[in-house]
Amino acid sequence: MLIHDWEAAFAPYDEETYQTVLAQIAPHDVVLDIGAGDLRLTKRVAALARRVYALERDPAVLARSERGTWPANLIVICADALTTSFPADVTTAILLMRHCTHEHFALYRQRLGALPGCRRLITNARWKMDVEVIALRSGGVYDPDRVGWYACRCGSIGFTSGDPGIITPQMLAEVIDVVSCPKCEA
Ligand SMILES: C[S@@+](CC[C@H](N)C(=O)[O-])C[C@H]1O[C@@H](n2cnc3c(N)ncnc32)[C@H](O)[C@@H]1O
Repeated sequence: MLIHDWEAAFAPYDEETYQTVLAQIAPHDVVLDIGAGDLRLTKRVAALARRVYALERDPAVLARSERGTWPANLIVICADALTTSFPADVTTAILLMRHCTHEHFALYRQRLGALPGCRRLITNARWKMDVEVIALRSGGVYDPDRVGWYACRCGSIGFTSGDPGIITPQMLAEVIDVVSCPKCEA
């Protein structure tokens, strides 16, 4: 049986996804784009940020982007993001990779959190289509008595159920970021 490695596949996202990411980029940001593909988003990020590192392991995908179109503040690194060192001056990371496994998400998050100045991770890896901005210096303890959505550092998301009579629309809309959850503690 052929099992496709979706995480390794290049597939660009839609303009709405890119706009959500671009709206988060500030002029002082030093950005690391993990799994940058053919650089179509990374080049747009470079127009907004101080510096951008594009990390892509597939040379054939990178070759789709003409070197002559790379701006001066774009540094392209062809390497495996799971094992290569991340640049020390990164302040914001992008991970548009909705087939990223929980294990790899957790590893990326942990390694980004270890960089002294890296504050944010913009990603669709946990919610799969929706883009979220994770504050890497935050995250609370999982509370089994709090009814509602949580998103964990391990890459899992979940809903803690409770008495349906107490659930409000606001509780359904809110997600809390946690550093442990029933799935990674199991
Ligand atoms: C779904 S594509 C998204 C490309 C780009 N972020 C975009 O939105 O246009 C994911 C990319 O991540 C790359 N990738 C997956 N795992 C990687 C790894 N461990 N290191 C570097 N690149 C990786 C794949 O080669 C692919 O090009």
